[in-house]
Amino acid sequence: KNCLLVGAPVDSGKRRRGCLMGPDAYRTARLGETLKDLGHTVQDLGNLRPAPFEPDLKDDGLHALNETVAWTAALTEAAESAIETGFPIFLGGDHSLSAGTVAGVANHAARLERPQFVLWLDAHTDFHTPQSTGSGNLHGTPVAYFAGRDGFDAFPTVQNPVPEENICMIGLRSVDNAERESLQPTKIRRHDMREIDENGIARPLAAFLKHVAAQNGMLHVSLDVDFLDPSVAPAVGTTVPGGATVREAHLVMEMLHDSALMTSLDLVELNPFLDERGRTAKLMVDLAASALGRRVFDRPTRSFS
Ligand code: ARG
Ligand code: MN
Ligand code: MN
Ligand code: MN
Repeated sequence: KNCLLVGAPVDSGKRRRGCLMGPDAYRTARLGETLKDLGHTVQDLGNLRPAPFEPDLKDDGLHALNETVAWTAALTEAAESAIETGFPIFLGGDHSLSAGTVAGVANHAARLERPQFVLWLDAHTDFHTPQSTGSGNLHGTPVAYFAGRDGFDAFPTVQNPVPEENICMIGLRSVDNAERESLQPTKIRRHDMREIDENGIARPLAAFLKHVAAQNGMLHVSLDVDFLDPSVAPAVGTTVPGGATVREAHLVMEMLHDSALMTSLDLVELNPFLDERGRTAKLMVDLAASALGRRVFDRPTRSFS
């Protein structure tokens, strides 16, 4: 693959600061070199900046709305153009960045007349609207945005909303009441940690990949650090106990690689200020490596069609 590293130091999606250091932490943890060693070409496009915006002067209700809107505009454009030339890996930055990355790649998919799919690996559903959020933190809203829910009038209009039935969430264990209620009637596939405990993580993923393959879809994967258990990935502001193990996460990544379906990737919510000797950044780099072909032994190719 031609891997394009796109730095997205978005830090406006919540009040606790530090995600702006994420892109450089991934570089320091040798993401680029690691992917080259796997045989990929790698271009580091440097860090993006938000579109011009009016400073967010008061913090009432929604935190840093103007800045987050400005990032969404810049990221939509950047994602739409990066995916033309390679496999973009968006180095976050908090999860509000996925409003832009998914809107952008979905525009590209629409031009190719292929359906866009999203795999959301997260403790949270991030399905609030700017009206329903209790925290006012916009990193809790990107899925609602790119799925085309109402209430995002301050944001750029989503040209190609991702259909509900094309979205799959795995790892869920912290869902607010308003999110649960608005998700209930949707066709979004949602797999909580209890289901993973009972049935394993491979089963729901394989079913989703089969669905993507059957429709010749483009697949965007959004990996939130808090998908992982905080005991192995402490560098995130929104830790929730009971997350995915190191092996569960690697298995997801290995299956993604074997499927050959993934067309873009977000690495989000890493807060290096909260890390312990870089261990979370290193684990995220190792997971990206698994998704891009690192393996212990070759196995017969697995088909999801
Ligand atoms: N549901 C909570 C909120 O809206 C937490 C969201 C966490 N999102 C994230 N991307 N870490 O504030
Ligand atoms: Mn998230
Ligand atoms: Mn999360
Ligand atoms: Mn919430």
